Amino acid sequence: MTAIVLYCRPGFEKECGAEIQEKAAWNEIYGYLQLKKNQGIVYFHLNNADEGEILIAKLPLKRLIFARQWFVSLTDTIELPEYNRVEAIIEHLGQEWQYADLRMETPDTNDGKALSKFCRKLGVPLRQGLRSKKMLAPKGQHDGAVLHALFFSGSEVILGYSLGTNTSPHLMGIPRLKFPSQAPSRSTLKLDEAFLYFIPKDEWPTRLTSGMNAVDLGAAPGGWTYQLVRRGMMVTSIDNGPMAESLMDTGQVKHRMIDGFKYTPAKQNVYWLVCDMIEKPQRVAKLMAEWLLRGDCKEAMFNLKLPMKGRYQQVQDDLQLIKDMLSEHQVKYELYAKHLYYDREEITVHARLLSPPP
Ligand SMILES: C[S@@+](CC[C@H](N)C(=O)[O-])C[C@H]1O[C@@H](n2cnc3c(N)ncnc32)[C@H](O)[C@@H]1O
Repeated sequence: MTAIVLYCRPGFEKECGAEIQEKAAWNEIYGYLQLKKNQGIVYFHLNNADEGEILIAKLPLKRLIFARQWFVSLTDTIELPEYNRVEAIIEHLGQEWQYADLRMETPDTNDGKALSKFCRKLGVPLRQGLRSKKMLAPKGQHDGAVLHALFFSGSEVILGYSLGTNTSPHLMGIPRLKFPSQAPSRSTLKLDEAFLYFIPKDEWPTRLTSGMNAVDLGAAPGGWTYQLVRRGMMVTSIDNGPMAESLMDTGQVKHRMIDGFKYTPAKQNVYWLVCDMIEKPQRVAKLMAEWLLRGDCKEAMFNLKLPMKGRYQQVQDDLQLIKDMLSEHQVKYELYAKHLYYDREEITVHARLLSPPP
């Protein structure tokens, strides 16, 4: 039976499942869910097998908040023999397709991590075997479908494909970022990942560059401010808590010890507003929309904290509040949200106006 297999943060399978089921239904595609609890894997079994490719072509992966990566299954879970695993996999694939790339993947769990060495080792002869049968494109050719082999153990694998134009470029949808040793907190990786995920690299020279002014609400001790400073920006950091001395020493940071909900910039020369205040998500969502509508920033990147229960519905309500406020003023806008790898009980949202503020 054909399924869309989705990867999410372990513990968020319910949200990931609810989301794919809802967004598939908007495209009149129906099926039922099977959740691999705390393994970060969701199966959306399709009522009609042909609709797998239609759905992954029609629905941008970027529109899914909780899914990091996905593929359409080509097989059920296969039991592999102890020897000749490569031949067994090739046999199950059939030979009519050529794939652009192969991803050897596991669930994002401790057991999965223990399997990653096995996957790297098996990947070498599997790639060779696939290339010799012309089932995998020569190195450096990246157009076309991506073959996924998701291993649950050394002898259990499910095979499938995603479309090169609508897939994550990372194994299991997880970017591996290096923690910069000078950054004052681990939160720094959240904003680093957010910029990488939401802002295309070829647009960095105009949207994420030195000389810009930025405001960081809830900034202490400065992990997010660090990401702005290292990109050459001048930052106003708002927090009652102390900022790292190393950041203050750069001369690029002004620290204001006031309430982030009351601060407004004196001049409309702020490009980036970033916000990591631990506060009610509805309050933060409203604040962000107000900044954009007043023209006090050009782009906003912020976290919305997730509740313990009813997380999917809460996220929908928070985003709807922003959409309603922006639509009321008839501005064009871009709004994307993602549960990023370095996020935990929060999602990251990026918003910007595409027409002048009212
Ligand atoms: C998760 S921490 C921020 C971490 C920071 N982004 C970093 O990378 O180091 C949340 C911060 O929000 C601040 N905060 C919470 N409510 C605030 C408010 N109303 N105004 C200003 N700061 C606030 C807290 O003092 C705390 O330092």
